[in-house]
Amino acid sequence: MRAAFIHSFSISSLLLLFASARAGPLFLHRLDQAPIANAPGIVLPPMDTTHDPKTGEPILSDIVGRDRSINIFSGFTRDVDAVSARLDDSNKNATILAPHNSAIASLPRKPWEDPKDYDSLGSEAYAGAEGSGRANKNLQTFVNAHIVPRSPWPENEKVETVAGNTVWYEVKDGKKFIQPGNIEVLSVADKVANGQLWILKDVLNYGQ
Ligand SMILES: *[C@@H]1O[C@H](CO)[C@@H](O)[C@H](O)[C@H]1NC(C)=O
Repeated sequence: MRAAFIHSFSISSLLLLFASARAGPLFLHRLDQAPIANAPGIVLPPMDTTHDPKTGEPILSDIVGRDRSINIFSGFTRDVDAVSARLDDSNKNATILAPHNSAIASLPRKPWEDPKDYDSLGSEAYAGAEGSGRANKNLQTFVNAHIVPRSPWPENEKVETVAGNTVWYEVKDGKKFIQPGNIEVLSVADKVANGQLWILKDVLNYGQ
């Protein structure tokens, strides 16, 4: 999460989308910190400049931020270090199942909110450093539940996502549907050396 605070890209996309909703303490906190990104002396990590070192071809980390219709999700992938490292590894193939912005925006709660945390900790569940850590862990589960560690991924093949939930897909009338849940794949947005980026109409069940 350390890089998250200076990743203005995902912060701005989140703020835009959730500006009207009740913003959690975590992201109010982030808002306060956002100007750090423009402070002199802070070197932002390079974005979209990594390629397969062997072939020079683009890999998932290069292209995940390209499509504006999934920029909330792609911002999340950058916020979670373990996920961004994976997408940047040319030896680890993956099929990224990226929910469309509208699907994430219409969730009943933010992807990093878990009702169990509110039950046990109350409204301050995501306040302070511990709260940030808790939110980041939940966000990691959400993102991992949308990453299939296999590409190419054959139809009907059951695979555990990085979060451990089992998924597969079926093709009906030329469209792919992720199961369980019958979640429509709107498009295969990109195919690169270490995998594919698919755009989903809805989020998958991520257990919260
Ligand atoms: C990884 O993906 C590439 C591109 O589709 C493919 O050529 C390669 O065989 C895949 N590797 C594995 C281990 O699936």
